[in-house]
Amino acid sequence: MSITKKRVAVLISGRGSNMKTLAEAASGPRASYEIVGVISDKPEATGLNHAAALDIEARAISRKDFPDKTTHEAAIDAQLKRWNVEIVALAGYMRLLSADFVETWKGRMVNIHPSLLPLFKGLDTHRRALEGGLRIHGCTVHFVTAEMDGGPIIAQAAVPVSPDDNEDSLTRRVLAAEHQLYPLALDLVATGRAQLVGNRVAFDHLGASSGRERILSPSTGHDGEADLESLARFTP
Ligand code: GAR
Repeated sequence: MSITKKRVAVLISGRGSNMKTLAEAASGPRASYEIVGVISDKPEATGLNHAAALDIEARAISRKDFPDKTTHEAAIDAQLKRWNVEIVALAGYMRLLSADFVETWKGRMVNIHPSLLPLFKGLDTHRRALEGGLRIHGCTVHFVTAEMDGGPIIAQAAVPVSPDDNEDSLTRRVLAAEHQLYPLALDLVATGRAQLVGNRVAFDHLGASSGRERILSPSTGHDGEADLESLARFTP
């Protein structure tokens, strides 16, 4: 049986390791989405080379080439339309999008953020987690709304924070979790199992009224509920 894959574009600003992970997941025979293009607002982004190496169309649409945010975003939107994109995945896209752009892609645009939101919106999340003495840190995939890093949460992955951690080691551990979480979360959206409904995410496999919290375990990729045993492992 052939499955119609959702057409996904990834927006990046730099390294593009999450983009690469999404592209690798999309190449599987049972994938629910395909990566049809990658756009960077920075021409020097190394992620553009990764995309080209994977035979994915890669475009730099540099902010510097446009007089203002509106015309820059219009160029991005036009490219997304040319590719017939159905879902936009932000992966290290480090530019705030306007309310108009967000509205255009409402319910069809997701982002990955390196913290357990709503903790640590914005930058330097790993440093702030260490400074705060957190024992658990992680990453979040959420629908994008006009509020920065504030949209409804689709999925999260938690990692332990060790007393020996520094910013580098914690960054690496969270990034590894991001690489497991993002393909799973995008699959939930691409298959329609996670949908933006008002200001919440509705999960059709849970039932609209369940209201139970879920956790995606980065170690197993299993989307079961968190249990005390797995949470206990986060205590150093
Ligand atoms: C990732 O850690 C991602 O969560 C973060 O930028 C990094 C991009 O890495 N995004 C944000 O901070 C957005 N607020 P990558 O280019 O290797 O995927």
